[in-house]
Amino acid sequence: MPTVSISVRPEHAVARLDRRLFGSFVEHLGRCVYGGIYEPGHPSADEDGFRRDVVDLVTELGVSTVRYPGGNFVSGYRWEDGVGPRENRPVRRDLAWHVRETNQIGLDEFAAWTRLTGVELMMAVNLGTRGIAEALDLLEYTNGEPGTALADQRVANGSPAPHGVRMWCLGNEMDGPWQTGYMTADEYGRLAARTGAAMKQADSGLQLVVCGSSGSSMPTFGEWERTVLGHAYDVVDYISCHAYYQDHGDRASFLASSVDMDRFITTVVTAADHVQQLRGSDRQIALSFDEWNVWDLTGWQVIEAQVAADEKAGRAVPWPIAPRQLEDTYTVTDAVVVGSLLITMLRRHDRVRAASLAQLVNVIAPIMTEPGGPAWRQTTFYPFALTSRLAAGTVLAPLVDCPTMPTATFGDVPVVDVAATFDDETGRAAVFLVNRRQDAPTSVRIDLAELGATRVVAAHVLHDDDPTAQNTLADPDRVTPAPLVCTVTDDGALLVELPPISWAAIELAR
Ligand code: AHR
Repeated sequence: MPTVSISVRPEHAVARLDRRLFGSFVEHLGRCVYGGIYEPGHPSADEDGFRRDVVDLVTELGVSTVRYPGGNFVSGYRWEDGVGPRENRPVRRDLAWHVRETNQIGLDEFAAWTRLTGVELMMAVNLGTRGIAEALDLLEYTNGEPGTALADQRVANGSPAPHGVRMWCLGNEMDGPWQTGYMTADEYGRLAARTGAAMKQADSGLQLVVCGSSGSSMPTFGEWERTVLGHAYDVVDYISCHAYYQDHGDRASFLASSVDMDRFITTVVTAADHVQQLRGSDRQIALSFDEWNVWDLTGWQVIEAQVAADEKAGRAVPWPIAPRQLEDTYTVTDAVVVGSLLITMLRRHDRVRAASLAQLVNVIAPIMTEPGGPAWRQTTFYPFALTSRLAAGTVLAPLVDCPTMPTATFGDVPVVDVAATFDDETGRAAVFLVNRRQDAPTSVRIDLAELGATRVVAAHVLHDDDPTAQNTLADPDRVTPAPLVCTVTDDGALLVELPPISWAAIELAR
């Protein structure tokens, strides 16, 4: 007898899928840009120095938008440093990551890379150390038609066509004391409102993202959103959410990380809708989950503390160029959590209309590279790539009848979570599942007769008997998806057995 029963029906529709849900993030950080997407001299590099092996993996990953150039980096960034002849570009200190930035890649090069990969460029402006004028200048340089000073400068620099960036972030994590130029919610809300209004004076069709909280554990979480939107509600389209999860030695709670994400979404939606009601506005604000992932922050915190201790003691601390930073190696358990976070964002897609997996290459990333050597897929690559490839049409939040399991952090949580999509035009459906149980498989019955898509095209499962298994340079294909056995019953239901700690995707057709 199956222990879990899932019912997938057309009336469980959440929203039409917006492919911006499958965005990612490239920050000038560690080896994400230099040695990641860009490595002149690498055997696969093209004439612009872009690694084509990485381009191929980005395409396979199915990324829609890419947020750029930060992250914490953006709060000290002068965009002008990264345009024009390369030999004139200054090397500067990046305070966020205690490194030197050579500016050999800037806006025009990155825009060219997005054309190569076919992704939408999503830009962030610096509201940490800069303001309205610089944001407007960047907008004119990026999107202006030839005939004004900054647009003509772009043309002279070799980019005749406007880059056409529609989605703009108004700063980054401005609530965080680690952010260069961080602010109170009132200070930031006023600046964001004025900057956003000025940018929309230049182009009312822009879509603007105002900074929400850096995480649900921030002391101002919830209140920050309410205050910031109190100032900026009428000019912004999205509010950002950022969440990183890690295993603090309690795997059951870690496997339930998406419960936190779900509560996070509820809090932000509540704050946004509260402001909407107070203003009597007919516009609803969407959520842009533009930083999310598994990230073991401990490694970076140790380095930061050491740098601070050395500086206080008067010891010289280097400012390296593109060092290895935040290069987490992901386990199969991490990948299962990533898959479950995607399930949550699908189920909440009525409000989470955009998202960016942080980040794309080398830095807490699904794609890794070795200088002069290969590029490979981390475990986390697979749930993202399969969800992006298979999700289409309308997102559904199926009903689940299942047992719960205890966790120290979140109390009792369902052992299985699920999301689905159905495309009327092609008659194809996809079901995404996570099994959080660690000790035993879970048998699942999925009733989808009402969708009319019961022919299994393929079914994939991500699991390993060793929950700590990883993909590495030495063993890049240790963890890959395997076929999942599905049985179709006479009444058109699917029976599957999900192994412990697993993520699965089932493709169906009429
Ligand atoms: O993605 C790494 C960092 O995490 C980003 O730069 C910052 O926005 C967040 O704190």
